[in-house]
Amino acid sequence: MARFRLDDRVAVVTGGGSGIGAAICRAYAEQGERVVVADVNPAGGQRVADELGEAGWFHAVDVTDPASVEAGVAAAVERFGRLDVFVNNAGLGLVGTVQETQRADWDRLLNVNVTGVFNGCRAAVNQMLRQQPRGGVIVNIASVAGQIGVARRFAYCATKGAVIAMTRELSVDYVKDGIRCNAICPGTVYTPFVEGYVERFHADTKEQTIQELHARQPIGRMGRPEEVADLAVYLATDEAGFMTGSAVVLDGGWTAQ
Ligand SMILES: NC(=O)c1ccc[n+]([C@@H]2O[C@H](COP(=O)([O-])OP(=O)(O)OC[C@H]3O[C@@H](n4cnc5c(N)ncnc54)[C@H](O)[C@@H]3O)[C@@H](O)[C@H]2O)c1
Repeated sequence: MARFRLDDRVAVVTGGGSGIGAAICRAYAEQGERVVVADVNPAGGQRVADELGEAGWFHAVDVTDPASVEAGVAAAVERFGRLDVFVNNAGLGLVGTVQETQRADWDRLLNVNVTGVFNGCRAAVNQMLRQQPRGGVIVNIASVAGQIGVARRFAYCATKGAVIAMTRELSVDYVKDGIRCNAICPGTVYTPFVEGYVERFHADTKEQTIQELHARQPIGRMGRPEEVADLAVYLATDEAGFMTGSAVVLDGGWTAQ
C-alpha cells in the first residue's frame, strides 16, 4: 500500500478557491481524495472544483455563517458519503497597530478568522462523531503571526494566536474519539492575499516590497502555496497518526532567528 495517500477519503477545504486553499484542494485530489471546495467566492471556488474533475465539487460557503458551513459539510456527505478531513483555511488579513485598528475592521477580521474556525470545527466534529467509522482530521491554517509579533498586524496576530489555541484545545477534547487536529503556521506565502496587500499598501514600490517580503524569510524567498499543501497532505494521512495538537511552523526560518 502506497504511503501518504488519501484514496477515497473526503475533504472540505474552506477558502479553497484561491491561494493556499486551492493548492490544498489540488494536492488532496492528487493523493486520491475527493474534495468539496468551500468558498464564499463562487468564481474562484467553481474554477478550482472544475480543475479537479470528478474528485471536486464546489459548494458556496461563508464561514461566518454556521448554517452555511453545516450545509457545506452536508454537501460533502451527500455527494461523497462522509467527511474525513476538514481544513479551516479561509482567512483575511488586516494591517495596523492597536491604535490604527478600527473596531469595525477588528470585528470583521475576528468574524472570519476566529468565528469562522469555530463554525468549521463545530460542523466538522459533529459530522465526524456521527459517521461510521467515527473520526477524522482537522487542519487549521494559522500563521507565524500567531507565534510572534509581526509589526502592524495587531488584529491579525490576535486571530492567528486564537487559531493555535483552538487547535490545541480541540485536540485534547476529541483525542479519544479518533479526531486529530493540527495547525500549520506559514511564513509569507506568495498568493493573491499577498498580492492584494502589495497593491493596496505599496502600489508605488511594488518590486521593492516584494523583495522585502522574500527577504523576511532567512531562506531568502516567500513560500509557495504548494509547500503548505504538502504539509496539509501529511497531516491528513495515516502516517501522521501520532500527531495531534501541534502547531507546525513552515516559514523559511523566520521564527527560528
Ligand atoms: N499568504 C500568506 O502569506 C499567508 C501566511 C500565513 C497564513 N496565511 C493564511 O492562509 C489562509 C489562506 O490565505 P491565502 O494567502 O491563500 O489567501 P487568499 O486571499 O488567496 O484566499 C483566501 C480565500 O478565502 C476565501 N474567503 C474569504 N472569506 C471567506 C468566508 N467568509 N467564507 C469562505 N471563504 C472565504 C476567499 O474568497 C479566498 O478564496 C488564510 O487563513 C491566511 O491567513 C496566509
